[in-house]
Amino acid sequence: MERISFVGLGVVGLITQVCFASRGYYTIGVDSDEQKLRTLRSGNLPFHEPQLRELFDEAKINVKFSDDIDYAIENSRLTFITVGTPSKPDGCIDLTQIMHVCRAIGRALRNKSEYHGVVVKSTIVPSTTDNVIKRILEEESNKNIGKDFGLVVNPEFLREGTGVNDTFHPHLLVIGSSDKRSQEELERLWLEFYNKDAPVILMTNCVNAELIKYANNAFLATKVSFINSIANICQKFDGADVEKVAKAIGMDPRIGPLFLKAGPGYGGSCLRKDVKALISVSQAIGFYPTLLMAVDQVNELQPMQVVELAKSVLGDLKGKIIAILGVAFKKDTDDMREAPSIKIIRHLLQHGAKVRAHDPMALESLKKIFGGEIIYAKNKFECLTNADCCVILTEWDEYKSMKPDDFVKYMKTPCIIDGRRIYNANDFVHSTKYFAIGLKPDKEQLTNTYKIKNQRKRRLE
Ligand code: UDX
Repeated sequence: MERISFVGLGVVGLITQVCFASRGYYTIGVDSDEQKLRTLRSGNLPFHEPQLRELFDEAKINVKFSDDIDYAIENSRLTFITVGTPSKPDGCIDLTQIMHVCRAIGRALRNKSEYHGVVVKSTIVPSTTDNVIKRILEEESNKNIGKDFGLVVNPEFLREGTGVNDTFHPHLLVIGSSDKRSQEELERLWLEFYNKDAPVILMTNCVNAELIKYANNAFLATKVSFINSIANICQKFDGADVEKVAKAIGMDPRIGPLFLKAGPGYGGSCLRKDVKALISVSQAIGFYPTLLMAVDQVNELQPMQVVELAKSVLGDLKGKIIAILGVAFKKDTDDMREAPSIKIIRHLLQHGAKVRAHDPMALESLKKIFGGEIIYAKNKFECLTNADCCVILTEWDEYKSMKPDDFVKYMKTPCIIDGRRIYNANDFVHSTKYFAIGLKPDKEQLTNTYKIKNQRKRRLE
């Protein structure tokens, strides 16, 4: 079986490496972060990802970690580039890391006599492979693409939280290259990896492969900003509920049901960054991307909907204790990158609220952002205790299973702002004050807190 190396051990790099290792491939993971390498070498993972731990334990024999690109190139036949391409302040992507590793890979290739495949998995704006990566690799290696080494764009569609499953069962593989041999070599590898369960493989050129990734994420972001706009409209009409609207339009096969969940806006390491990068690259080539700019703008403003809801429910936020359930950008991850919770907490603090937060996985990351400014609860009930209001910002299963009585029992006033629409409003409105994104606040709900609480308390006693 092929020996494969991975340069950049973030979510995509490490998950892909471990998945290959679990199928018997000998793998070398390269990263420049010594702390991360120490964590991995001691058998631990630098982030939480369902199923990865078990797979890592099983596949350890096929997994090696190093900070040395020369060693990785020498001891593998194929290298996946999986380093980050973060946003610069103006939205365009920062190619520093990718250029750095390409130079190092190019230099290492100079000393290699056998053919070596280079596969770009990092998300890069259109034409980067042809105009930047190819040039660097050829210059540094003094060798030719197609003859001495291969170069392919193979974008990644895996989601955090379901990354292992997405790697084993992708909806599509895209292989972009200008060189037939490189394409065929990678296709062969993936067919071997998937054995009988190979997904559809789309062969194209590099620029299309690069664009497919951006178009994919931009469309997903558009769906979320679209449904969030509808949610904001729903919030103004008596009886309107975005959940009902989303369910109905999702039944139209031309629309589809996924990515129509209204909430506090999309977060995570990709969607926001990729939309901004596509805007930036469009402007650079003289196209004004009106739609993408609106998608981005809706998302920048969406967290404020939650803050506004809190203000309409609680009035003056000064001194009010607000319990935040969930801060990760979505469930099943400890990732706080671009999480809407950050903006929301910041605004609540600016309005004088006292914030107490809980998350099953992401509290350590939250502490790095807010330090002593907020209180960190050990569990969801501690978080609720004596709070004036509870705001749900991540759809963790342990919150979904909570009952109205849990809120009544612990909170000063059982008042919920469901930022993720995890509850059925009808189950809550009788015993708590229940408000949600995309649901117009009921006038009665806005006024009868204490009555509800006292009735409920009496019933519990
Ligand atoms: C995304 C893409 O889905 C994936 O294909 C790509 O490779 C990387 O970027 P990820 O960032 O892991 O994956 O998360 P995703 O599941 O796409 O969710 C992104 C954000 O959108 C989350 O904050 C999520 O809560 C939000 N979202 C998603 C909604 O608010 N509503 C929805 O209906 C779906």
